[in-house]
Amino acid sequence: MKIQTLAFAAAAFISSAALAQQNVEVLHWWTSGGEAAALNVLKSNLEKQGVKWNDMPVAGGGGEAAMTAVRARVTSGNPPTAVQMLGFDITDWAKQNVLADLNELAAKEGWDKSVPKALQQFSKHNGKWVAAPVNVHSTNWVWANKEVLTKAGVTTEPRTWDEFIAAAEKVQKAGFVALAHGGQPWQEATVFDGVVLATGGVDYYRKAFIERDPATLASPTTEKVFQRMSQLRKLVDKDFSGRDWNVASGMVISGKAGFQIMGDWAKGEFINAKKVPGKDFLCFRIPGTQGSVTFNSDQFVMYKVGADKAAAQTKLAGAILDPAFQSAFNVVKGSAPARTDVSDAAFDACGKKAIKDLAEANSKNTLVGSIAHGHAAPASVKSAFYDVITRHFNGQLDDKKAAAALVAAAKS
Ligand code: BGC
Repeated sequence: MKIQTLAFAAAAFISSAALAQQNVEVLHWWTSGGEAAALNVLKSNLEKQGVKWNDMPVAGGGGEAAMTAVRARVTSGNPPTAVQMLGFDITDWAKQNVLADLNELAAKEGWDKSVPKALQQFSKHNGKWVAAPVNVHSTNWVWANKEVLTKAGVTTEPRTWDEFIAAAEKVQKAGFVALAHGGQPWQEATVFDGVVLATGGVDYYRKAFIERDPATLASPTTEKVFQRMSQLRKLVDKDFSGRDWNVASGMVISGKAGFQIMGDWAKGEFINAKKVPGKDFLCFRIPGTQGSVTFNSDQFVMYKVGADKAAAQTKLAGAILDPAFQSAFNVVKGSAPARTDVSDAAFDACGKKAIKDLAEANSKNTLVGSIAHGHAAPASVKSAFYDVITRHFNGQLDDKKAAAALVAAAKS
């Protein structure tokens, strides 16, 4: 072969290798309409930078199914480039020493200064950035259909737990589903986050569910939490079992139901359906939890990948923390940015409230990690809690027995 031909072949090989480097394989559970719309913002940002997106969706809020899929991939020695992950799951993987080191990029782009400490607690392990946080969600929200409330004669926003139950009962009496709910363990646990906070306040929440102090967990407050869960159980329709969360949001959007208790990813569904906050729907904190926030942050964990994939992985991490992206993405996703230096100008009324509540809760020390979404305890404890909460919601444990079972579950 002539020298020129060889050189040409070598150049062609190098450029195809370079092209092959420019792709990321991303595992996530963003499969609803609103979630897919938000994910598209990230996909198209990367595509503009020449990075191809290989999508690996595994549906299921809280990420339990996704975590099973990740385990299989990592065990077989073939981890994806990046995986959507929550709180303690990140720490579990970091301990296994299989995650990438993003410190160079983090230092260059000043992540230490701009990402809230409550998130850094999970994004960093032993001083090393291992994940790129994309948002801050919170779970203590109620979503309401304005027209349904008017038709049911609910004229003011409920401010206390009792007012909320009374309003929901009015909605039910008027012939609507009072509480749109999907009977899946993670959704019941999501509702539980807010009921714990509304019933025991932030000190009880922290002591019982983050510190897992047995005496606090065994106190009468825990039984009261389950009594309130039982009140909510009477407000759901008979077909709730197994329903997906976005289908439940759809019931509020279409005017079949009055309320949904769900994290602010629900807002993504309302926006995707072209509904306007204040006009078509209302967002307010679960009555009794005003001033406190139960948060969860979606982070993209970066696995150790071969040199051929590292450049695209760095581009992905950089794109996630880009301030303009953080605004564009979170406007669609329903969450607040994972950086404190992003303006709220592009956000709607619910988004502005989310950002303001988060900053206030952070400064007043009333910001606590979501039990349901892996920010209060490691996965083993979280799953044991899910089990008790769901069995109670489905009538297999009474309030008292559920409270006792929770004490045992905390020891998992
Ligand atoms: C995630 C959200 C997601 C929701 C429902 C939560 O665990 O943090 O980003 O939208 O699950 O899929």
